[in-house]
Amino acid sequence: MLSDAFGREVSGVRVSLTDRCNFDCVYCHNEGLGDTRGPQEPQDDEMTADEVVRFLDVAAEYDVGKVKFTGGEPMLREDLEEIVRRTPDSMEISVTTNGTFLPGRAEALADAGVVRVNVSQDAVDPEAFAEITQSGAYDRVVEGVDAALDAGLAPVKLNMVVFEGTAGYVPEMVDRVAERDGLQLQLIEYMPEIAGNPEWAIDIERVHGWLAEQADRVEHREMHDRRRYFVDGGMVEIVDPVGNETFCANCHRVRVTHDGKLKGCLNRGDDHRSMGEMTRDEIRETFEETVANRVPYYGEYLVEDDDGEWVVNEKYLPAPTAGDD
Ligand code: GTP
Ligand code: 5AD
Ligand code: SF4
Repeated sequence: MLSDAFGREVSGVRVSLTDRCNFDCVYCHNEGLGDTRGPQEPQDDEMTADEVVRFLDVAAEYDVGKVKFTGGEPMLREDLEEIVRRTPDSMEISVTTNGTFLPGRAEALADAGVVRVNVSQDAVDPEAFAEITQSGAYDRVVEGVDAALDAGLAPVKLNMVVFEGTAGYVPEMVDRVAERDGLQLQLIEYMPEIAGNPEWAIDIERVHGWLAEQADRVEHREMHDRRRYFVDGGMVEIVDPVGNETFCANCHRVRVTHDGKLKGCLNRGDDHRSMGEMTRDEIRETFEETVANRVPYYGEYLVEDDDGEWVVNEKYLPAPTAGDD
């Protein structure tokens, strides 16, 4: 497994298959690229299935054991099942989706080899949902979550971006996952860096405080040092990168944009040409270079020592391991 200069092993890759989406969520960072395109026909900058699989084969050579397919909306790709089927057997496959295409397709995804899905759901109220996603597909998403659970794609994590427009719905969402086996809730701190509107952000520590009061038990997940709260039999995980010293220190993922560019960090740009134009050896070289150049985004990773020299903040050392569930 490759490690970067901060000792962070790269155990997973997050592959955006398209920057198209049938939603237009007000908070969308589109994996660091900004606004998604509408759900129109694919354009020729998207990686082909062959290109995606070629990259994954190379990643598997470096013992990368997990792949997350994301978008935009990855289920707008009709060849998603084909890509999943052709993904190296050594990789655990999950998908992050807005859920609208799961009815009718969840089973095919499971058959192809997806083990679990994350579905964006920011509110239990259809009107609020419509306002946030700028779509009227609430019922369809709820159906999609059911379809995923029926197909055995568990756990289904409900992704809820916590910001001014949704914070009031947290207790109802916590109840929803407590009531239903197989569901988990992922509360995601709003990241304004790419999406804009910093005034929408709320203090995520208040949510931690509230959950700590409700929880029977709290655990830490190694990936991103995320805290997990167990409330009435339901599990709630908080993804809180902003201003968090230990989030990036425990980040073990490399990203790939829809047009085949490797990125060491979600919030950073890409420095390389598309892998579609590369030979397999060039992909290996670029992968190694991308890992070697990874630097944390949030938190102070360089600090001045007593002699005025810039050194790596000890919070980023010793090397965290890539063990994760
Ligand atoms: P799993 O829990 O393993 O399914 O992964 P995940 O939490 O990354 O799932 P998902 O793809 O559904 O992403 C949920 C949110 O976490 C999104 O808002 C991502 O932008 C955010 N996120 C995931 N990885 C990173 C990361 O490395 N850095 C930052 N800043 N945000 C991340
Ligand atoms: N801040 C935090 N999370 C975001 N997501 C999209 N945009 C943002 C943002 N600005 C999350 C959604 C979606 C996942 C892929 O990214 O919850 O499920
Ligand atoms: Fe962005 Fe996801 Fe919403 Fe689509 S569903 S607009 S990709 S956050």
